[in-house]
Amino acid sequence: MSTQNIIDIAKSLFAGNKGLLAMDESNPTCNKRFAKSGIPQDEETRRAYREMILTTPGLGESISGVILYDETIRQKMKDGTPFIKIINDAGIIPGIKVDTGAKDMAGHPGEKITEGLDGLRDRLKEYYQMGARFAKWRAVIAIGNDIPSHGCIEANAHVLARYAALCQEAGLVSIVEPEVLMDGEHTMEQCFEITEEVLRSIFNQLYAQRVVLEGIILKPNMVLPGLTCPKQESVDDVADITVECLLHAVPAAVPGIAFLSGGQPCELASARLNAMNVRFKSRLPWPLAFSFARAIQQPALEIWQGKEINVTKAQQALYHRAKCNQAARRGEYNAGMEIN
Ligand code: G3H
Repeated sequence: MSTQNIIDIAKSLFAGNKGLLAMDESNPTCNKRFAKSGIPQDEETRRAYREMILTTPGLGESISGVILYDETIRQKMKDGTPFIKIINDAGIIPGIKVDTGAKDMAGHPGEKITEGLDGLRDRLKEYYQMGARFAKWRAVIAIGNDIPSHGCIEANAHVLARYAALCQEAGLVSIVEPEVLMDGEHTMEQCFEITEEVLRSIFNQLYAQRVVLEGIILKPNMVLPGLTCPKQESVDDVADITVECLLHAVPAAVPGIAFLSGGQPCELASARLNAMNVRFKSRLPWPLAFSFARAIQQPALEIWQGKEINVTKAQQALYHRAKCNQAARRGEYNAGMEIN
């Protein structure tokens, strides 16, 4: 697999003002979300949920790639058709989450290090053979008293870069996802400082590990005040500071940036992405897109409730959110698009 192929896949994930749908919740995370809506937490229900998502009519109009979980990439439709076939037939590129989760970091109370490098080379080979063309690895950075530490930032940046290098060896685009969490009282300015430091550290490590930047996708958080910070800035302020942060730290060689939603309300995530594109699109070296999980799936999950009878309505809600975010990529989203 040549580097050019990887670069072409990365580019095609940003074509047509589309974005990514993250549906790679680990079983415990998926079960937790099901539990909140009173949905049974078992393998068959997770399969049925993912089938509902993947058979949404017109999904490929606004979604270029879906990120799957290990269980999901192996699953089939009720009629026996592999999910991978349904995805390819919809003109969507399949991707796969390959980290094995963020674990407590030794010697660093309150901080996490993402694991999953052991055996990764072989797992990537297998996922490629199964049809995946891109991968995802998420690092988690919390803001709090005396955290994040340099040790935590550096360690996570290092493993992200080693993961990305292994992906390139295996012919896969790597989504590099550092998530500075929204939890806490921190200000938007604190989030800016930490996000910039994290991104700088990651690009240093990507350079050290000889990762071709044209073959990665950056999936960062938006720069936001903490959830319990008394001062919550406007949509335009968030757009301005997020773009400023990215301009400080993200090389122009990166083919695109696809934000995570991080638990923001769906409509706000769309509005903030839209504001960035309205204000800066023509002046940026990279496209600004979305790779949302909750900010696309949440309304559909609430409608679905694990019941076949709700599938069509849930799919309409999913389609709608994907379309809203595609409009936000163009800078054409507005609150009037929201259905009640
Ligand atoms: O790992 C997290 C997902 O890739 C993005 O999820 O949009 O719900 O933050 P989110």
